[in-house]
Formats: sequence, C-alpha cells, structure tokens
Amino acid sequence: MSAPARFPDGFLWGAATSAQQIEGGVAEGGRGESVWDRFAAAPGRIADGSDPSVACDHFHRWRDDLALMREIGLGAYRFSIAWPRIVPGGRGRVNARGLDFYERLVDGLLGAGITPFATLNHWDTPQALQERGGWASRETVSAFVEYAGAVVERLGDRVRHWITHNEPWCQSMLGHEQGQHAPGHRDAAEALAVAHHLLLSHGRASEAIRRLAPLAQVGITHILAAVQPASASADDRDAARAYDGSFNRWFLDPIFRGAYPEDVVEDRVRLGQLASAELPFVRAGDLEAIAAPLDFLGVNYYSRTVVRAGPEGRPRAIAMAPPEELTTMGWEVWPQGLHDVLVRLARDYAPRAIHVTENGAAFHDAVEPSGRIHDERRIDYLRALLDAARRAIDDGVPLAGYFVWSLLDNWEWALGFGQRFGIVRVDYVTQQRTLKDSALWYRAAIAAHAVPDATEPSRGGLA
Ligand code: FCB
Repeated sequence: MSAPARFPDGFLWGAATSAQQIEGGVAEGGRGESVWDRFAAAPGRIADGSDPSVACDHFHRWRDDLALMREIGLGAYRFSIAWPRIVPGGRGRVNARGLDFYERLVDGLLGAGITPFATLNHWDTPQALQERGGWASRETVSAFVEYAGAVVERLGDRVRHWITHNEPWCQSMLGHEQGQHAPGHRDAAEALAVAHHLLLSHGRASEAIRRLAPLAQVGITHILAAVQPASASADDRDAARAYDGSFNRWFLDPIFRGAYPEDVVEDRVRLGQLASAELPFVRAGDLEAIAAPLDFLGVNYYSRTVVRAGPEGRPRAIAMAPPEELTTMGWEVWPQGLHDVLVRLARDYAPRAIHVTENGAAFHDAVEPSGRIHDERRIDYLRALLDAARRAIDDGVPLAGYFVWSLLDNWEWALGFGQRFGIVRVDYVTQQRTLKDSALWYRAAIAAHAVPDATEPSRGGLA
C-alpha cells in the first residue's frame, strides 16, 4: 500500500464551534440577551424544547476544551465571539468582562500553539438591536462595525484571522424568509435587505479591522452548495441555475465582483420578491464597500443539492439517496461536491486563499459499555471529504485550511441537542467530554499531515 498523499506544508488542521451553540452562561459576565435566547424561549421553536442557556457550559469549561484541542493536536480553532457579551445593549457601552473572556481563551490557544480564527457574527445578534429592526435596519451595519472595532482593539494584536460573518444565506433566508431560525420572520423582501446589510457590514467592518490591525487576515464565511440539475432538460438546468444563483452567487458576486447577479435579480422580480430591478436597499457606494479586498474566503460545505423545476419556475430540491444513507440532518453524503465547489470558486472568483471553515456530519452515536464511541460513519465522512479537499488542492485550489464541524456536540439551533456533530461527545447531564473514534482518527490525520487510509490501524486503535 502506498503512503497516503500529504497535505501541503503549512496547511491548517482545525475544528470549529460557535458561541451560542457551546458557551451557555447567557446571563453571566455581563452578557446581554441574543435573538436566539429570545427565539428559543418561545414555545414550539426548538425541536426538543431545549434552549441554549447552558449548552456545553464552555463558558466555564473552556480550559478543559482547550486541553481536548491539545490532545487532538489541532493546529487551528475557529470560534465565535458572542456579540451580546461585548455590547449587551446592542450599541454603546462595551462590556470589558466579555472581552476578558475571549482574551483568556485566545491567550490559552496561542500558548498551546493553536491559531485562533475568530468569527465576529455567528448569528447571535443582540436582542436590543432586533428591537430596533435588527439586520433589516441599516443602523445595524454601524452597530456591527463599532462592535468589530471594540473586539479588534482588544484582540487584534493576537488574533490574526478574522471572519466577519458566518453564512449570510442562513442568517438572512432561514431567519427572515423561511422563519425557522431567529428572529423567525417570513418576509422574502426583508430577507434580501438583511442579506445586503450583512454584506455591507462585512465590507465596512473589514476596513475597520485592517485599520486597527494592519496585519489582519480578513475573510467572510459562506455556506455553499454543490448544485446539480435533476436531469438534462432545459427546465431542470434553468432551475439549477436559479438555485445556484440565489444560494451561492447572490452572496459571492457582490463580494468578488461588486454586483448582484442580474439573472437572479430578474428571477426575484418575476417571483415578486423585488418590485423592480432597482434594489431598494442599495445606496451609492455600498457595492464598492462590499467588494473590499478579501484575504481569504471561508467555505462551509455539507452536501449537494439536486434541483428540479417546480411550480412557477421555482427550483425544488429533491432527495437522491435513501433515508438510511443520509446523516441525521437528512443531508446526503456527497464528497465530490466539496471538490467541485472549491474548483468552481477558484475558477470563477479567484479568491487569494480559501479555508473550509466548516465540514462535518451528524449521526446517532452509540456509547459502548467501555465508554468508547465507534463513530465509523463520521470517520468515513471525514476521510472522504478531506480526500476531496486534497484533490482540489491538486487541481490548483489555494486551500489553506480545514475545520471540522464540530469540536464538540452542541446545540444545533432550532434542532436543539438531537443532532450530534462533534468529534468529541458531550453528555449534557454531566457535561463529561469523551473523544469519539473520529477525534482519534483526526488526531492521526493531523499527525501524518495526510488522510489515513481506511485499512490503517489508526482507525480507532489509538485509545
Ligand atoms: C452551519 C452553521 C453551524 C452549524 C452547522 C451544522 O450552517 O454555521 O453553526 O449549525 O451548520
């Protein structure tokens, strides 16, 4: 058997989390309320009736979690900063105790030789801002830039990699058009304004970050889908174009080309989401600001979407795999899509660098009487996806790092605690952490700087 191909020198092996999903401590250390705290408190919003008030109790256990990262051998850790910990009232007073918390975490990471990647907005908008219109209001753009400035003033001498936003598609569309995420609105026109304000605040915040920390590497993270037509028919191919347009290009084109895609503007006018091709939320200078230089693009990839033409020409995603082959999220395992998404990005948008800032899979994990968790399906997923990432590098993609979603099992938003994405198991009653076999496998991959072959003893033989 030939030795597995190594990743390029300097490639970062990471894992990711987000504040609202792991921290808990929502009323401690001067933190204000977030839109997700409020959303989860309303009956019927969260699948298992849970809320994020304790989650993984990372707010108190971060030192233990840092020890786990060391044990796995992570080279990088992507976490998010809870905006309401820093600016509890949404604007104005900065809560120094909130900054202290992240400063300790960052110093701990640096002391362990782990590169911090800090996300400024992973969806936990201060509720106080929501009461003034939230991301539908242009005022939130300035609020975000002020918040970003306060964080970078404190941490910009130590954190080099900054991600302004996590997945503007999810925050705008799931939160404001489809209603299953906070704040739970169902208004397509509002969702487009939200998306624009997120993108605009990315551009403006990245200017502020660079001013305060000239060595900063600034990026934004998008969720991207590998979109394929269900058939070669002209209608299905057009449905795939439209789906790719609204899901992927609507968020990429402004960043890289300073323009919204015209074909998607036309679709949205036809569907009544826009009154005309004049976008009402765009003001002079916005698109230039959004297209500010970008040091890296963060890509979150989970699955492909196969699309068929539906009623009124709306694209409709269809299931391709039998239920038993899906992850517990209902997502198909489609490794080739990561390769294809990365190659397409390099070809069409030529980012300077790309990091896969999230990739992973939720499955039901069984705990053996010995305490071991043989999560072979997660290992298979990670192996195949990392292999796809490596093939993209071979094909010339400037991929510089990969972050598993997630370090820990955590609070999966509207789905609550039922979805386990972690390579580390969390027992939510005792808060005990246990490395799953996937964490041991990932440790072996990191140590080898390569994706271990299925037949190698590293597969769970490391405990
Ligand atoms: C992404 C989110 C992340 C997590 C994963 C499963 O969309 O960024 O917080 O929920 O999905």
